[in-house]
Amino acid sequence: MASRHRFSTFSRRNGRAHKSIAQHLGIIGSVAALVFSGSCSGQRPTDALMGGAGGMMMTPEFATLREAADAAGKYIGTAVDAEALRNEEKYPEILAREFNSVTPENATKWGPLAPDAESYDWEDADAIVEFAEEHSQAIKGHAFVWDQQTPSWLSSSMTEEELRTALKDHIQTTLERYRGKIGAWDVVNEAVDMDTESGYTESIFYDKLGPGYIEDAFRWAHEADPDVLLYYNEVAIERAGPKSDFTYELMRDLLDRGVPIDGIGFQSHVSTHRYPPLSNLRANIRRFADLGLRVNISELDARTVLMPGNQQERWSAQRIAFQQVVGACIVEPGCEGVTLWGFTDRYSWIADETEPDDPLIFDRNYQKKPAYEGTMDGLKGLLPVTLESVIENGDFSMGSDNWDSVGGTLAIAEATETNGPAACVSERAEETDGLLQEGLLSSMKQGGPFSFSAQVRLKGAESETTNAHLFVETEEGSTEEHSLATVPATSSEWTELAGYFGLGFEGTPTGIELLISGPPADVELCVRDVQLNPLTTRSAH
Ligand code: G3I
Repeated sequence: MASRHRFSTFSRRNGRAHKSIAQHLGIIGSVAALVFSGSCSGQRPTDALMGGAGGMMMTPEFATLREAADAAGKYIGTAVDAEALRNEEKYPEILAREFNSVTPENATKWGPLAPDAESYDWEDADAIVEFAEEHSQAIKGHAFVWDQQTPSWLSSSMTEEELRTALKDHIQTTLERYRGKIGAWDVVNEAVDMDTESGYTESIFYDKLGPGYIEDAFRWAHEADPDVLLYYNEVAIERAGPKSDFTYELMRDLLDRGVPIDGIGFQSHVSTHRYPPLSNLRANIRRFADLGLRVNISELDARTVLMPGNQQERWSAQRIAFQQVVGACIVEPGCEGVTLWGFTDRYSWIADETEPDDPLIFDRNYQKKPAYEGTMDGLKGLLPVTLESVIENGDFSMGSDNWDSVGGTLAIAEATETNGPAACVSERAEETDGLLQEGLLSSMKQGGPFSFSAQVRLKGAESETTNAHLFVETEEGSTEEHSLATVPATSSEWTELAGYFGLGFEGTPTGIELLISGPPADVELCVRDVQLNPLTTRSAH
């Protein structure tokens, strides 16, 4: 560990050396937030902020999420676990009371429906459909074509024709059975994978049938039942960026060629320390809606264990995550509604597939969590409001006042026709060299939640990871590092570096500074429009 040093540091300007907390800690590269175990004894997110800004609009009160969604003319749905529906008492009670839409979590996938090639097992799917019909809930089937949970008898030894026939038969048999009952279907799920050469998920369907299987699946579905709404569903496209852009172009191409696609699902498996900034999500909803697609938030949950803090702090931050994503859908006319990927932490895929977490709006004992209130606020169109940024001279209108560089040389690039001034750090010798603002203690010591955003751009490299961290010196003598945001920045355009700080601190802060860094040595890092805004949970609209 680096030797202890006095927190207040001086900056390299006019050649003076600067060692920030980050460098004294010998921190290399982009380090994720320190995940503290156990409870934090530190500050709490200020209740005043959580309580909401003054001047709140009076909004109607609703007894259930379903009432609020009905009043907004939107869906509030949930994935349904067939076993829980069958075996539990509280599960069906809450399902009927709080939701006006359901999606079978697994029961209508190809594998569960067709355990062998000769017959179908409709039991679980029928149970969910019957429950929904009994409670006047809309139903969205999920999902005809996905490279996971395919039938065990599907094999790579099948010929192209055999696979095509099997897939078409599956789609049309299932649609026939649920004609007039299931009004919408995820036809193709997760066909895009930015880690492959082609950008498509390398599945048995892609490998044997080529990307044309996507178009075929939609055409076969429409042919079987022209009245059903047909959706494409994708993970990690809720935030505008390379994958969302690829998916947007795919949808535009398919629609231009007359492929019958009615809507798109932004799955939105987010984390409470990383979910789309409101402006980004709303613009992303709008651009897909402008293609004529119905946009759904289709699988919303918000992991919390990836961020430090005790349960109360993590759940407070989670409340804002749900409020923001649900609220964005409610206020955007192009968004039809939100489906949560489960509603109780008792049943979440995340624990099965990753690690224990509490990503939903009811706890394991079916008690409402703050995220329930956040969802309710979102359904009422109450968006989290960002208060005045605590960053001094974040737009560099006063040159480099309040800013330093860690290593490197700081210079201000003049405003252009389209953009304001930027701060550029050149001659960077390490990844942790970058742009620094100290003196954030008085405005941040109460803890989060805060939303962070900045625009970043590189010189001297195509694309490199760029990040923002808070470094916190504490009374107890420790130095905490909190990851605020990370993004691949490029030299060709400005990229939004955005994220959240939703928590308190492990210790008692005596000094807080912001560092934007990350690219390798010798890459020049330019930054503009830095904002760090306290978040509140309520607003007028
Ligand atoms: O039904 C069998 C059961 O008979 C067996 O005893 C048990 C133990 O092996 O497995 C059960 O099947 C499990 C199934 O969930 C039903 O519980 C599968 O193993 C398990 O892999 C499957 O996980 C589902 C996962 O998709 C599959 O990848 C999750 O519940 C489901 O929430 C998740 O949902 C997906 C969406 O469909 C698409 N978007 C991503 C999302 C999360 O992965």
